[in-house]
Amino acid sequence: ITDPKTQRFEVPHEHVGPFSGPAASDLKYKVDIQQNPFGIKVTRVSNGKVLFDTAIGPLLYAEQFLQLSIKLPSANIYGVGEHVHKRYQHDVNWKTCRDTAPSGNMDNLYGVQTFFLCLEDNTGASLGVFLMNSNAMEFALQPAPAVTYRTIGGILDFYIFLGDTPEQVVQEYVKFIGLPALPSYWSLGFQLSRYDYGSLDEVKAVVERNRAIGLPYDVQYTDIDYMDGRKDFTYDKVKFKDLPSFRAYMHNYGQKYIIILDAPIGTEALSDGSPYEAYERGQSKNVWVNESDGVTPLVGEVWPGRTVFPDFTNPACTDWWVEECQIFYNQVPYDGIWIDMNEVASFVPGSSNGCKQNDLNFPPFTPHVVDRLLFSKTLCMDAVQKWGRQYDVHSLFGYSMTLSTQRAIERLFPGKRSFLLSRSTFAGSGKYAGHWLGDNAATWDHLKWAIPGMLEFGLFGIPYVGADICGFFEDVTEELCRRWMQVGAFYPFSRNHNTEKCAVSGGPPPELGTRFRRSPRSC
Ligand code: NOJ
Repeated sequence: ITDPKTQRFEVPHEHVGPFSGPAASDLKYKVDIQQNPFGIKVTRVSNGKVLFDTAIGPLLYAEQFLQLSIKLPSANIYGVGEHVHKRYQHDVNWKTCRDTAPSGNMDNLYGVQTFFLCLEDNTGASLGVFLMNSNAMEFALQPAPAVTYRTIGGILDFYIFLGDTPEQVVQEYVKFIGLPALPSYWSLGFQLSRYDYGSLDEVKAVVERNRAIGLPYDVQYTDIDYMDGRKDFTYDKVKFKDLPSFRAYMHNYGQKYIIILDAPIGTEALSDGSPYEAYERGQSKNVWVNESDGVTPLVGEVWPGRTVFPDFTNPACTDWWVEECQIFYNQVPYDGIWIDMNEVASFVPGSSNGCKQNDLNFPPFTPHVVDRLLFSKTLCMDAVQKWGRQYDVHSLFGYSMTLSTQRAIERLFPGKRSFLLSRSTFAGSGKYAGHWLGDNAATWDHLKWAIPGMLEFGLFGIPYVGADICGFFEDVTEELCRRWMQVGAFYPFSRNHNTEKCAVSGGPPPELGTRFRRSPRSC
């Protein structure tokens, strides 16, 4: 449903273009449009069951508020994210899904997935519904049973999939948005990571200890502490001085090495005062997200301190990023890339200069997002990217970074399956990347909640998924960690990862002040 008079934002999706080809024949469904009140009805031909009926509520279509409700044939509804869902099957009693660290209270998390599956009855017949829309939105479940999509921009671009089984529906959906990547064989093995090993000697001690006990273990990571001042494409020449030969050290034992890269790019010089060349080159090519004037790079604060944000929707930015991945690879070879902070995250609301008072930053209706502020922990909504205003493209940041990083992977490992893991996702991210469920905690609840989390990402076409085994925040008990290692062996993406030792650094660098220090709870 579009506006015939005015051009509105439409997701420039890599995989889903305008439909071409002959119309389908022998349809399993019938579509009826009703006027006064307006409604769209989709019926399954074989049994006459109404599967999708929007006449249950009025269609609202305003500049910054679009709402459509859909009556469904059953309350067996699964999907829509990213949130912590305590159970796989949704509770339809007026629960709102909004699109922080997973806390179990339905906060909106790292990615945006607008697909759900509905089992129609006990024959297995099922339908799937997908809304191609990247604006901030709410998704409400009602006991009718019905659901409501409430979005503040774009168009209502719905796709409905009918299947004889739930599997068939998911197969149709993933074919549509991009079939999932086939993971490299080694990336199905156990992986080990932590934030802040402190030095490469410590990493090697961990590797040796685990080799010595014969732990089946294929991959070792280094998190942002390998970097110089937490800046991408650099490494700490003191604490990680032998990093250039680390991959060879891993390969000698048949193991692989993965690095993290953050989306935000620091703007200051390196710790020895030399220029931060990756930033300088990006700066000279104008590849950053800009403020509302479209020309001034927007500045925020993330791990390195002051940062700019690459506009991965700009082909020139992708070229710069691919080149930087190559230059760094030539110094420090690696086997795969983990991309992080790509929601995109910032530690100051909007920008270091704040955000203007306008309808993009402060829309008439703000969906029930964390902090009830669209630019909380991210960029101003009037910031400008090639694909459009942050207001429209915010939820595509991780997706666009995935597409750009995939180009780097193809260049570095031609003809090979490698590894790409992204924190933020959108429909279609699974074609290139896997996902982990983010900064969970070492509690039994989190161990349990990861199960529906992973099943959901299967529905979203990102089956290569896992949760941080033994929990990211908080100290884990031996019993919990043992159990988590046992269940984690069955995760498609099986990685034990946890946060930094509090005694060593205790959070963000001092220049960011106390605002972002982790709560004592996380130590
Ligand atoms: C946030 C990520 O979610 C976490 O896994 C990582 O350890 C930290 N950033 C530091 O890079």
